[in-house]
Amino acid sequence: MEAHGLLKNKRGIIFGAVDEQSLAWHVAEQCHAEGARMVLTNSQFGLQLGNIRRLSEMTESPVIECDATDVEQLRALLSESMRLLGGPLDFILHAVALSPNIRRRRSYDNINYSYFQQTLDISALSLHKLLQTAKETDAIAEWGSVVALSYIAAHKPICGYVDMGDAKALLESITRSFGQVYGEEKHVRINTISQSPTRTRATEQFPELHIMQTFAGDMSPLGNADAESCANACVMLFSDYTRYITMQNIYNDGGFSASGLTSRYILNSKYVELRKNENKGNNTDTQH
Ligand SMILES: NC(=O)c1ccc[n+]([C@@H]2O[C@H](COP(=O)([O-])OP(=O)(O)OC[C@H]3O[C@@H](n4cnc5c(N)ncnc54)[C@H](O)[C@@H]3O)[C@@H](O)[C@H]2O)c1
Repeated sequence: MEAHGLLKNKRGIIFGAVDEQSLAWHVAEQCHAEGARMVLTNSQFGLQLGNIRRLSEMTESPVIECDATDVEQLRALLSESMRLLGGPLDFILHAVALSPNIRRRRSYDNINYSYFQQTLDISALSLHKLLQTAKETDAIAEWGSVVALSYIAAHKPICGYVDMGDAKALLESITRSFGQVYGEEKHVRINTISQSPTRTRATEQFPELHIMQTFAGDMSPLGNADAESCANACVMLFSDYTRYITMQNIYNDGGFSASGLTSRYILNSKYVELRKNENKGNNTDTQH
């Protein structure tokens, strides 16, 4: 998509880019194209795993290691970012998630509670820790914008997503609660974007991804939203065009969350057979 300088003179931090598939990678590229200057950050493991150095070169952004669950590391990240970028931050992307229960193929009714706490800490409480630390250190500028990435499983159970649905529900709740406090005091906006299922390193742990992508694609009038469209939605929320949008969960999902039953789903499903039989008038199951 053509850039319009929407983030010219803005400073930000992007969490969670590990490789080219990462949603955060696309967001960083798009923010750079729109004129922003950024710091990229990830955990020690995330930095070792992927090729963030390439993104750093492409977007001319320094990289700072930070475990998003560690308040002291968050404090250092915020202070060093302000120093490197020359002032308080205008935007932050939180694209951080991990579930040890999913990794170890645990089902929702056989959860390990220590893993569950890690899931909540990494995937949801880290947003609270980030916001509280930013507020204490006055690291976000007036009318700054924070976006965290969520998923429909915060509202409807998705088979195989295990404890991440609870983590996303908490993430969206923190967005509203902190959005109220930070908005009143400093006009800082906090929103989540709920993204269509998209193939990334994180979803490799999720065996049902392909089924979910096919199902969501069929049930979304516009089809599944890709990573680039997620980045566009983030840029929109970081920009000054959305100054009065806060404490919201915005669906970037092709309409999936609002859809009941689409004709595409019927055409691609076993219901085709049911309909054929119904048309023949010989299927008593579908007469009711
Ligand atoms: N891919 C999807 O289908 C999808 C859909 C909706 C929402 N999301 C959300 O988007 C966000 C980004 O995920 P992604 O799909 O791009 O996968 P990804 O694997 O590229 O990104 C997840 C990131 O979290 C980082 N991370 C994990 N633990 C961390 C910690 N303690 N401190 C700092 N960083 C840590 C990882 O290193 C990685 O960079 C996640 O919040 C995910 O739940 C993804």
